[in-house]
Amino acid sequence: MAKGERILVIDDDDRVREALSNLLKSWDYNVDVACNGTEGWAKIVSTHPVVVISDLRMPEPGGLQLLKQTRELNSGVYFIVLSGHGSIQTAVEATKLGAYSFLEKPVDPGRLQIELRNCLDRHESERQLQIAHRRLRDMGALGKFVGRSKGMQEIMSLITMVAPSSASVLITGASGTGKEIVARTIHELSPCRGHSFVAVNCAAIPETLIESELFGHEKGSFTGAVESRMGCFELADGGTLLLDEVGEMPAPTQVKLLRVLEESKVRRIGAKAEIPVSVRVLAATNRVPEDAIKAGKLRSDLYYRLNVIRINIPPLREHLEDLDDLCSHLIADLCRKHNRPLKTIDPEALMLMRRHTWPGNVRELRNTIERALLVSHSEMITAKDLPAVLNASYSAGNNSDNSRIEVGLTLDEAEYRLILQTLASTNNNRTRAAQILGITTKTLYNKLKRQ
Ligand SMILES: Nc1ncnc2c1ncn2[C@@H]1O[C@H](COP(=O)(O)OP(=O)(O)OP(=O)(O)O)[C@@H](O)[C@H]1O
Ligand SMILES: [Mg+2]
Repeated sequence: MAKGERILVIDDDDRVREALSNLLKSWDYNVDVACNGTEGWAKIVSTHPVVVISDLRMPEPGGLQLLKQTRELNSGVYFIVLSGHGSIQTAVEATKLGAYSFLEKPVDPGRLQIELRNCLDRHESERQLQIAHRRLRDMGALGKFVGRSKGMQEIMSLITMVAPSSASVLITGASGTGKEIVARTIHELSPCRGHSFVAVNCAAIPETLIESELFGHEKGSFTGAVESRMGCFELADGGTLLLDEVGEMPAPTQVKLLRVLEESKVRRIGAKAEIPVSVRVLAATNRVPEDAIKAGKLRSDLYYRLNVIRINIPPLREHLEDLDDLCSHLIADLCRKHNRPLKTIDPEALMLMRRHTWPGNVRELRNTIERALLVSHSEMITAKDLPAVLNASYSAGNNSDNSRIEVGLTLDEAEYRLILQTLASTNNNRTRAAQILGITTKTLYNKLKRQ
């Protein structure tokens, strides 16, 4: 626990005040003293100590009165009450009034030390949480993670809650819902933000290479291993590793992965020595993990290790309230990316967007906006800049089946629709969808990203 925290001791008994002050100084705290309630109150207000240790019985205002006033300040000060006349009754009263703890005189230094450490620990975690909240708010203003709907707000508070810890988080949600952006936001708000964020997509890497990708390899350990390479765990050391599409990982690799997670040590392929690594692990999947377990794709022991905290992102059609905000954010972002002056969007185009069901979620929205920005010649995106599928679903008066492939679509759009439809029909199982489409999972993955 960080020492040097400000502690205020209030006692009208000189000896007690001196003794406590010396003791706390010897523990490297930054100590201030007050010899009565009035002086104590003035110092609480002006110096904002982290902890107040106050005598109970003093000329007015007494300890309980001070405690009451301090609680009313609502400044998060921890209050430890001391009394030479300790009775259960006053202890109960002090606790009711919000005292952190109650110590009897003469003070037992060991207990005082424990109480202080506990409340300073609590103070520190509250501080981290606040820092995280602020950063998230600022990042929101910068336009990173967008969403004011109830569902998105819940996700934001989950993110701020889990970010400061080192707990594993499993992020679930359909394709393009924002799993990676959630993972990056957790990293950005965590104590390891200064270190690297590494994302490895288990579905996009051929099975024969996945272990080398994750754990690294030594030169000559297999054909093609012409030189030694670090794996993702080493690359992410001190930072965050996102295991994307974790359900697509081959079973033997899952066993090895679990061991690395348990032991915080990694052995490169072909190496003798194990390398200690300190990595915050996040995992994402666009499948329902419980189904993947039932289907024998995901090992349950690995799942339990990863699923300490679960963040499930709803599909875009379930938080369409965020559509306007998302549009503004994406337009600004994409105009910057393409070096174009900022465009607006006309109400009719927005209405068409609200009618669409967005099977490809926020990624589809982003692609739609990007395409519209590039084809529109005016300062405003209008309905005619939107892909046929949005217009078609509107003119047909049909707002549910907008994944149909019909004349008016470009080949690229038709391909994208077909991929999304196939994914939907396989419950987002990319391996299965790739089989049906007659392409490799890697190709499917690349096609989705390219869109
Ligand atoms: N809430 C959001 N605010 C801002 N941008 C978002 C949000 N959600 C998603 N996006 C954007 O949508 C795109 C897709 O998001 P992301 O890559 O995180 O999705 P994903 O769930 O990981 O998709 P996949 O399952 O295909 O891997 C990205 O460009 C991302 O920046
Ligand atoms: Mg992703």
